Amino acid sequence: MSLKDAATAVRENAHAPYSKFKVGAAIRAASGAVYVGCNVENAAYPEGTCAEAGAIAAMVAAGEKQLTEVYVIADCPDPVPPCGGCRQKLAEFGAGDVPVTMGTTRGAERASTIADLLPGAFETCHMDGQ
Ligand code: THU
Repeated sequence: MSLKDAATAVRENAHAPYSKFKVGAAIRAASGAVYVGCNVENAAYPEGTCAEAGAIAAMVAAGEKQLTEVYVIADCPDPVPPCGGCRQKLAEFGAGDVPVTMGTTRGAERASTIADLLPGAFETCHMDGQ
């Protein structure tokens, strides 16, 4: 199954009763395995989690820590851009040149990379000298 198909399928499982905005994410890890996640909202709004965070959590729970490709999809006019927090989460586990494809259920796509989405990322090297 392609990353797009995996993200599209898992999006259907999103729990988004508050925003009504369902998001699906699929990531390929270094082993080739695909991990998926959807947004999971909560009545206590800040407790909700993004689709990308769910996919990353599934990858780490399975014992993998390197992602090589990302696909995110939602039903919106323009391809859905990962939020700021998710950009930082993706940068934790993916190199700057990792492709991130943003899609819409209407068929549009935009290609980017982790580095382009998060220029000047905070990384462990910034803690050197502490
Ligand atoms: N959302 C994601 O799951 N990923 C993103 O990259 C953007 C936003 C979710 C969070 C929330 O459940 C809903 O979309 C509206 O913000």
